[in-house]
Amino acid sequence: MIQVLVSQVQALARDALLIELQAPNGQVLPGAAPGAHIDVHLPNGLIRQYSLTNAQGQPSQPSYQIAVARDADSRGGSDWVHDKLRLGSALSISEPRNLFPLNTAAEKKVLFIGAGIGITPIFAMVNSVKGTAVDWTLMACARSASRLAFLEELSGLDDNRVHFHFDLDQGGPLDLHALLSRSQWDALYACGPAGLLDAIESKTQDWPAGSVHMERFKAQAHDGSGNSTFELVLSSSGQSVQVAAEETPLEALERIGVDHPFSCREGLCGTCEVEVIEGLPDHRDNVLDAGDRAAGTRFIPCISRCAGNRLVINL
Ligand code: FES
Repeated sequence: MIQVLVSQVQALARDALLIELQAPNGQVLPGAAPGAHIDVHLPNGLIRQYSLTNAQGQPSQPSYQIAVARDADSRGGSDWVHDKLRLGSALSISEPRNLFPLNTAAEKKVLFIGAGIGITPIFAMVNSVKGTAVDWTLMACARSASRLAFLEELSGLDDNRVHFHFDLDQGGPLDLHALLSRSQWDALYACGPAGLLDAIESKTQDWPAGSVHMERFKAQAHDGSGNSTFELVLSSSGQSVQVAAEETPLEALERIGVDHPFSCREGLCGTCEVEVIEGLPDHRDNVLDAGDRAAGTRFIPCISRCAGNRLVINL
């Protein structure tokens, strides 16, 4: 855990704040690559994940900058930041973790899509590829220009590469069909609301494996119908627990007194990840990519389940 102080609070766009965090003693913070996020432990007990907008792959950096949008359906996280956070507030944060890494070494023609507050990791990525040999294009989307964070900074970049789409001005959502013609791009990085990412996922089904990278900031809905009980076995002790249909594997572990790390409890942050020794996971998280899922060796117990009757994990 890292202790930081809020060194800057600034309006970025309508209902979006830029928050800068620095170590109290002025020391540098661990560096992070574009796409990285930190867990922010709020004084009201909530833990929230925010992308670093100023992660540029340096070994260390003087501050972390995050952008926080007020969520109309806030469960207490974004409301607290907007209503209670002040300059000088003390916060605990995690070290940066990157579940949305940029790999432009192998990718020549790259499309970035950042929508709403999903522009934050994309902003860091665009800043890292500008001026390089990567042939990149950005589509930055929001309901209106006033709601797009970093509008001014993005407007100052290459006009031929940066495109904007504002739903209210352009009569509706982005036309993904034309934009996502597969022949145009070697890779896609997208972050934004669930509806947009679901549409991107369905329109890129035929893209090569590993070419579509997305980061969700809300878990995909799953109503739990069809959940069944299964046995979860801890390989080190042989201890086992029946995971009931209405509880998560993480909750079952906690019920028998296993103290396992967690943060979001929604399958978003990767903190609770464990290795699978035996059995077939039923992946429901937004952490693992298609390759990880196919390999079946990693498991996110705060949300995923077992596709069979028994799962042995490396605990
Ligand atoms: S606690 Fe965040 S993915 Fe499980």
